[in-house]
Amino acid sequence: MILLVGAGGQLGRELSGCLGVLGPLERWTSREVDLADPGLAGVISRMEFPGLRAVVNAAAYTAVDRAESEEGRAYRVNAEAPRLLSALAARHGAPFVHYSTDYVYDGAKDGPYVEGDGTAPLNAYGRTKLAGDRLAAEANPRHLIFRTSWVYSQTGACFPRTVYGLARSRESLDMDRTQRGAPTSTELLAAATLAVLRGVLAGGNAPWGLYHLTAAGEATWLDFARLVTSRALELGLPLRLRPEAIRPRDEPDPARPARRPLNSILSTARIREAFGITLPDWRYHAERFAEGLGIQAGLGIRPGQP
Ligand SMILES: NC(=O)c1ccc[n+]([C@@H]2O[C@H](COP(=O)([O-])OP(=O)(O)OC[C@H]3O[C@@H](n4cnc5c(N)ncnc54)[C@H](OP(=O)(O)O)[C@@H]3O)[C@@H](O)[C@H]2O)c1
Repeated sequence: MILLVGAGGQLGRELSGCLGVLGPLERWTSREVDLADPGLAGVISRMEFPGLRAVVNAAAYTAVDRAESEEGRAYRVNAEAPRLLSALAARHGAPFVHYSTDYVYDGAKDGPYVEGDGTAPLNAYGRTKLAGDRLAAEANPRHLIFRTSWVYSQTGACFPRTVYGLARSRESLDMDRTQRGAPTSTELLAAATLAVLRGVLAGGNAPWGLYHLTAAGEATWLDFARLVTSRALELGLPLRLRPEAIRPRDEPDPARPARRPLNSILSTARIREAFGITLPDWRYHAERFAEGLGIQAGLGIRPGQP
């Protein structure tokens, strides 16, 4: 059995749809188990996990701005829970698969970050995620931690869906071009996770550790918004916003309490070499995202619907 934690989130839903090919999948959402529960260790110890082969943790406290005033809760979900889940996997001799974030870096580096670079989170979310990376790794030598960035999906609340929603009603928009990163779809993350985990479960071993896992190339939020809008228009979706009417903003949004790194580009050489996977340019899945919007519109699904 594979335990998938966070099965109701953006990535969790994508993994739910594909990890089942590896065998029976037990899915936890926050309804089954509250990862912020201070008594989580006791809750887990009273449960049984017959034939546990892997624990995959897609859950996280991801409200980056709210974490500034709720760091204790964010720590329980992002650090303490991964430690306990990783230890649970270790007790069964099973690997722990976990996801981390570009926000562990301060973004001041001139060039892509590599896994060995120093971390210096700018915000509470980044601090709690970094603590989770360390605690999960210490709790189980058989861990795979995938550090990713700018995650979006066809169904969750995420940047391109927000842009699409606004583009239906607005004729102009301001968009940040100070931050650089690699927009990474949950489709890509789930496909890479499946490929790696399939090999790990078949062979029983792997080059365990921390890996950067993002799409290739780089973008600003402005680039991302323009690409999704222009592809949606090409597909005939009814948008009032034209890509050229999305204006660059050269200051961080002052309304956001949490600081963000300016450079979120992560080198993925290590994972590509270790597992022989290919990571497409970010535009590939961004275009597929827009095509998905077209399919949803054809089915009468509105942008706000999960
Ligand atoms: N989103 C990004 O841009 C981004 C960027 C870099 C890295 N990442 C990392 O990628 C991974 C997946 O992120 P995502 O975008 O898929 O996140 P998401 O859509 O926000 O999903 C997170 C999931 O965690 C669950 N969760 C939160 N608090 C919980 C609690 N107390 N008990 C049980 N479950 C709880 C949520 O359940 P409920 O909804 O039921 O509360 C939700 O299903 C995370 O590790 C995240 O840190 C994300």
